[in-house]
Amino acid sequence: SKAQIGVYGLGTMGSALALNMAEHGFQVAVTNREVDWIAPFMQEAGDLAKNLHPFDTLEEFIQGLATPRVILFMIPSTKPMDMMIEAVTPLLEPGDTIIDGGNANFHDTRRRSALMAKQDLHFVGMGVSGGESGARHGPSMMVGGTKHSWTQLKPILQEIAAKYQGDPCVDHLGPDGAGHFVKTAHNGIEYADMQAIAEIYALLRDVTGWDAPQIGALFEGWNDGPLHSYLIGISGKVLQATDPETGKPVVDLIVDQAGQKGTGRWTVIEALKLGQSASAIEGAVGARAWSAEKETRKVAQGLLTAGTIPVDLPDADDLQAALLAARILGHAQGFRVLQAASDEYDWSLNLPRIAEIWRAGCIIRSSLLDDLADALRSDPPQGELILAPAIRASLDTTIAPLRRVVASAVTNGIPVPALTGALAWYDSIRTARGSTNLIQAQRDFFGEHGFIRIDKDGVQHGPWNS
Ligand code: 6PG
Repeated sequence: SKAQIGVYGLGTMGSALALNMAEHGFQVAVTNREVDWIAPFMQEAGDLAKNLHPFDTLEEFIQGLATPRVILFMIPSTKPMDMMIEAVTPLLEPGDTIIDGGNANFHDTRRRSALMAKQDLHFVGMGVSGGESGARHGPSMMVGGTKHSWTQLKPILQEIAAKYQGDPCVDHLGPDGAGHFVKTAHNGIEYADMQAIAEIYALLRDVTGWDAPQIGALFEGWNDGPLHSYLIGISGKVLQATDPETGKPVVDLIVDQAGQKGTGRWTVIEALKLGQSASAIEGAVGARAWSAEKETRKVAQGLLTAGTIPVDLPDADDLQAALLAARILGHAQGFRVLQAASDEYDWSLNLPRIAEIWRAGCIIRSSLLDDLADALRSDPPQGELILAPAIRASLDTTIAPLRRVVASAVTNGIPVPALTGALAWYDSIRTARGSTNLIQAQRDFFGEHGFIRIDKDGVQHGPWNS
C-alpha cells in the first residue's frame, strides 16, 4: 500500500516531523538529497520504522505516495526550494500538494503558489514552530494555501500538532503566503520577547551586579506568575547552567553577538511597507544587528562619554511588571502587522485563532496568549488589542513600572531598545494630539505639501511661502 504523506529532507526538523507522523500511525514515505542520511535515520527510528518507507530517488518516492499526493519539503526555503519545484513538478499530477515547512519569505511563497496553481498543483507555505522537540512531540503549525490542500493535510496535522487543553495548535490561516507571514510575525514577536528578557537581565547584571544564577532563579520564579512562558522558563534555566570545565555560568562565557536568519527583520521590513511601525520588534532586530559590531563597540566604549546618572534599579516586582507590559505591547504590535497584511493581501486572517494556535508548541507559547486570544475575540475598540478591557487592566498596573524601569535604564546608560520601543508606541497611541502638526508645517514650508486645519475644511497652505 502507498504512503499517506511524504517527507523530503531528513535534517533536524524533517526527521523530527517524520517520526512524529510515524508515531501517530501515519504511513510516511521519506527521502533525502544525500541518500546516505536515510539508513541512519531509519536506524534511529527504531520501532517507528514500520511506518516509515525510505526511497533513494525522487521518482520512487513520488511513486510511493497515494494520490492526491501530500509531500512535505523540509529543505532551505531559498534557491533549493525553487530547484525542487522544478524537479518535482513533472512527476506530480493535478490535485497534488507540496508543502514548504521552512521559514520562507512569504513573497516567495506567493510566487510559488501562483506558479504551481497554473498546473493545478497546490503549494502550501507552512510555518512550523517549536524547534526540534516541538517538531518531534507537537509543534504549532501555521498553514497557508488552498482549501483543497488543507482538506488533505488537516487529519495529519491535527494529530501531530501540540495540543492546548485538547485543541490542536494548527489551522488553515489563509491562501498563498498567509501561513508563512504568520510565522514571520511569530518570529518578530519571538525576537521582541527574547530581547525584552535580555534587557531585564542586562539591568540586573550591570546596574545591580547580580550574578547569572541569581537572575536565573528570579526568572524561574517569574515563570510561575503572569510571565509564565516558554522563553522566560528557558531563560531561567540557561542562566543557572554551569560550565563543567571552568565552573563559571555558561552565559558568562558566550560572546555577545547574536545571529539572525531573517524572519525578525522581515517582520520589521513588512511592517514598514504596510505603513506600520513595530517599534519593540525593531528594537530587538536592531539590538542583534549592533551586537554583531563587536569591534566597533569595543573601540567606542573607550571613546564615548557615558554621561550616566547612576540610580538604583526599581525592585524586582517592578521589573516583572515592566516585562509584562513590554510583552503585551510587543505582541500587540505583531498582531497589528498581521491585521495590516491581512487587509493588504486579502487573507481574512482570524487573529484570535492565531493567538490560540500559539498557546502551545511554539517558541512564544505563554499564558499571555490565552488572554490575548480572549481579548481579540471580544471585539476591542478600534480593533486594537491594547484597548480591550482585560488588556487595558493589565497595562493599568504595569505601565508605571515600565516607565520606572526605562527611566532607570536611560539614566544608567543601559540600552533597552525593546522596552523603550514598546513604551514609545504606547505613549504615541494614547496621545490624541501629537506633534506632527509641526511636521506638516515643515513639509508645507519646504515643499508646499499642504495640511488640514483643525478649524477649516480642505487642504490649506501656510502664510510662510507668501
Ligand atoms: C521557531 C523558531 C525557529 C527559528 C529560530 C531561529 O518558531 O521554532 O522561530 O523557526 O528558526 O528561532 O531564528 P533566528 O536564527 O533568526 O534567531
